[in-house]
Amino acid sequence: MLRAMQNQQENWSLDEILLACDWNDQAVAVSAGHGLSNLGLVKMTESSITDVILGSEGENAASGGLLEARLWDFIQSNPGVTMKDLSTHFERHESGPGIGLLKGLGVSLQGGAFACEDTEAVSNAIAARISFIESPSINDPLFEHFKGRKNLIEMVEVVTRSWRITKAGSAISSEDLEEVVRIAEITPELLQTDDWKDAQFRPYDVSLEASMPRSGRSHPMQALIERIRSIFLEMGFSELVDDYVQTAGWNMDALFIPQDHPAREMQDTFYLDNPKQIKLDPKMLSDWKAIHEHGGDTESTGWGGEFNEEVSQKGLLRTHTTVNTIQYLAKNPTDPCRVFAIDRVFRKEKIDRTHLPEFHQIEGIIMEPGANLGMLVSTLKTFYAKMGYPEVRVRPAYFPYTEPSLEIEVKWRGKWLELGGAGIFRPEVTEPLGIKDPVCAWGMGLERLAMLVLGLDDIRQLYISDLEWLRNQPIL
Ligand code: PHE
Repeated sequence: MLRAMQNQQENWSLDEILLACDWNDQAVAVSAGHGLSNLGLVKMTESSITDVILGSEGENAASGGLLEARLWDFIQSNPGVTMKDLSTHFERHESGPGIGLLKGLGVSLQGGAFACEDTEAVSNAIAARISFIESPSINDPLFEHFKGRKNLIEMVEVVTRSWRITKAGSAISSEDLEEVVRIAEITPELLQTDDWKDAQFRPYDVSLEASMPRSGRSHPMQALIERIRSIFLEMGFSELVDDYVQTAGWNMDALFIPQDHPAREMQDTFYLDNPKQIKLDPKMLSDWKAIHEHGGDTESTGWGGEFNEEVSQKGLLRTHTTVNTIQYLAKNPTDPCRVFAIDRVFRKEKIDRTHLPEFHQIEGIIMEPGANLGMLVSTLKTFYAKMGYPEVRVRPAYFPYTEPSLEIEVKWRGKWLELGGAGIFRPEVTEPLGIKDPVCAWGMGLERLAMLVLGLDDIRQLYISDLEWLRNQPIL
């Protein structure tokens, strides 16, 4: 290309270059031009113009006739034709809009029949439209008309490039110009022969600007859930998935949360109108009653007062995923297990920077002979380390269903952040279910963790479907 251009100092168009180099592939010329201009041997000028092409409806009109033209032909060749005739000859989605178009051209409907004062004017207008469709142009007065019609035309950007040799390009002696084949793309065909062995490869310039590939991807929350899921699976846990419509009995009573606990109030829990009550096993209810009133067969003294079985059977949206792990244990009280759940929970929270009424918990239990606090803490530390947070500490806390109870904190940007609770289930919880081995349990906030992972200071960002933000999130 440079050799050809040395013969002429003026601007070269793409076609001129193709001709002079005896190439037939535009891409080859454009890429050779880029190469030369990167070396400073030619200067490339790009200009873009807006052009008009046919849209999908425009293509249909070009092949099958423009709607108003087809209707007009039909009306012209069938004198006295009525609205009704039209609807039998044309599709419904055509006759309506088509008549609209004809009315715009001066055709009117009188008592179901078509009338027109100047048929020649209508025919001429339609002929002009047909010729626009045959060769659309931005400068055509009908351009504005077609722009207003759906999918008839489309605007496209056409880039034209031209090249001009620079001083540096002219200065290169033509004897020094050597033609070599450089391979830009490695294909299976290429590798099947031995040709590549002596070939030159075109280097990549990784410093060049490139457009961002945009493709479908998981929402960052979903990607985070998948990552957590795979960590627990890898650590030997199995996943538990269960409903979020539950009873107060399983959500609270089974966990030895006293019936007058403030968190049970309407202000904190979403109680349901439907189902308002869910029947529970009478045996379960009487066991909880005994435990809550006086400690049942455990050495506990219980909470005292009177246990209300109606309260237990109230329907609610689960306030924590512990409601599901406890039911799993009730069904499998004697088989050692490691189970986790990542699921949605509901609390009447005012929405703000750090609170949502619907959020997710990462829940888990380990039940096995000898399970203990050390095992619980090291499991949680391992989990957070795998998530990329090696600094974890625990602090004493209180939950009605665990003893000891602890809070898990993770260090982030120099500060300790509380991410969840954990502990070992109390006998008041395990004994009525026939559980003999110790159960380590924890429940952690997923959105809180997401805020760390994605560096957010407002939790709402996760759920507002801001496409620009979503596109720019890292792949987790
Ligand atoms: N369920 C507790 C919560 O919602 C977390 C927790 C789970 C604490 C298991 C101890 C044991 O905050």
